[in-house]
Amino acid sequence: MKSLLVGNWKMHETAAQALAFLDDFLPRIERIDSEVEIAIAPPFTALAAAGARLRGTRVALGAQTMHWALSGAFTGEIAAPMLLEHGVRYVILGHSERRACCGETDRTVNLKVKTALQTGLTPIVAVGETLDERERGLTDDVVITQTRAAFDGVDRAALSQLVIAYEPVWAIGTGKNCEPSEADRVMGTIRNCVAGLDTTPILYGGSMKASNVATYVERPNVNGGLIGGASLDPGGFASLIANAAL
Ligand code: PGA
Repeated sequence: MKSLLVGNWKMHETAAQALAFLDDFLPRIERIDSEVEIAIAPPFTALAAAGARLRGTRVALGAQTMHWALSGAFTGEIAAPMLLEHGVRYVILGHSERRACCGETDRTVNLKVKTALQTGLTPIVAVGETLDERERGLTDDVVITQTRAAFDGVDRAALSQLVIAYEPVWAIGTGKNCEPSEADRVMGTIRNCVAGLDTTPILYGGSMKASNVATYVERPNVNGGLIGGASLDPGGFASLIANAAL
């Protein structure tokens, strides 16, 4: 399976900044000779500009969330057809920041996964335990519960079409990455908790950077990364991609 590396820009970069990033970043990665798949998920307001610039390149476009309805009275929300119009291929669903701050629940993640699959978007479903849950020995229970809930009622055939990201909440943006062997173990647990995930790409996320990416992608259950902070610098993100390809 090819590695997939997805930059999650969170609430960073205007449309103009996104274009400046891509002008610097795209020539760098054209020089990297590898089959690593790359995607960038900018904020909604930069999707149109980034989507136009990425057309015909090796970098796919992602979004950071969406609503489960295709349209409707949902002030401030964005629907799948609006993403597809700009060439979005991936949509991150259930990121812990949205679970913690924006009312995302296992139920809404499940609704969104179904809508994404129906409309031809590839969901990147994020699961992961908090520090408190890890310290109480609940890591496996939490990721199993989140994973089963996310895919409840989803056709088995569709499970190989989506992506999962294991993101321990305590490792996100903290510089304290989860040990690769432990991440691999938890990711194996995720892979085995629902029938049909044998070939589903599972990404690691949480303080992944150029200096540690290789220690993850060499693990059997790790098929790439979801990268926040280290995807915001064009040179740094290109180095991370180059190191994943070694
Ligand atoms: P980080 O974020 O790489 O900055 O830890 C990862 C994420 O939240 O997806």
